[in-house]
Amino acid sequence: MPRQIATALLRPGMKLGRSIYDERGRVLLRRGVELKEAYIARLKHYFSSVYIEDRAFDGIEVPQVIADEQRHELQMTLADEWGRVAKAASFERVAFSRNFARSLSDQMRNLMTTVRFTTCIQEDLSALAGYDNATYVHSVNVAIYALAIGAGLGLPDSMLLDLGVGALLHDIGKLWVPGHVLNKPDRLTAEEYEQVQKHAGYGHDMLVRQPELSYQIAHCAFQHHERMNGSGYPRRLRGDEIHLFGKILAVADVYDAMVMHRPYRPGVSPADVMEYLFSSVGSLFDLEIVSLFSRKVSMYPVGTQVLLSDGRVAVVVGLREAVPSRPLVRVLSDQEGGPSDIDLSVTLNLTIVHAGDVTIYTAID
Ligand SMILES: [Fe+2]
Repeated sequence: MPRQIATALLRPGMKLGRSIYDERGRVLLRRGVELKEAYIARLKHYFSSVYIEDRAFDGIEVPQVIADEQRHELQMTLADEWGRVAKAASFERVAFSRNFARSLSDQMRNLMTTVRFTTCIQEDLSALAGYDNATYVHSVNVAIYALAIGAGLGLPDSMLLDLGVGALLHDIGKLWVPGHVLNKPDRLTAEEYEQVQKHAGYGHDMLVRQPELSYQIAHCAFQHHERMNGSGYPRRLRGDEIHLFGKILAVADVYDAMVMHRPYRPGVSPADVMEYLFSSVGSLFDLEIVSLFSRKVSMYPVGTQVLLSDGRVAVVVGLREAVPSRPLVRVLSDQEGGPSDIDLSVTLNLTIVHAGDVTIYTAID
């Protein structure tokens, strides 16, 4: 099984555990390639962590939600259209190209089928984001999470389709927010924050003008920053004034944005984000949606390193769906020698005290 490691810890001779692609889905480095200094320097430039092969995990795979090709096709469809749309004089003048909506819908139907067959997402989707393709990876991730919630709520296909397409396009209004404001690592000034907030309205006003898209899709862009207590934007809607899709996207968007590594800060671990979501139920997020989300997305994705309460370091190798907070882990540094597996769902005297810090275990040989 490939496992995640911080690129800072890569050393020559390690083997890549998962192919690396550029923002257009072209293979930069193939799985299995032995890393040389030059490759490592390049990886460090684009990624905060990558998967490497580790013999201690032979025979175990990270359960991928969607195939790489399916993801890249979606990301490229988005990237091509966004590149074109960004050249429009203003968001009011944008017209999507003729095949864009149909292409998105066709690909979304395939994604719906895939997500329906996934009982729980065990892959760390944020690990796929490099610094150059993060926007498109994030859009696809949010669509996957939104579909998982929508499918869990039993929504019919026609609604899931709109929700999925709306998720892919939820941030399209950012094309009209200046890049230096969007990518500013420091705290935004009040004026800059106001500029960022406008992306929700821009996206809505643009999407609502596209005849082949439904009104609900435009509202995904409009409402994904609304919050249950009225503290969101742009209209400060409260509770059930917020459309179901707005409530779903709020959770999916915040989760992926927080978990994802950025050049200026490391990602927050899925377990910590899940705790944050639960602590903000009622005030920011909807209870039913957060509970459903926590059952559909593993807070300990396969390949995550964890620190156990007895001080040992382990890697998550499987999920116990009945007890998602207590996965199956493999301990690598046992005193008796070789790796050993611990099922935390039955070994109740042990707990996970820390997860996702990719610097805690470095030996691979
Ligand atoms: Fe947004």
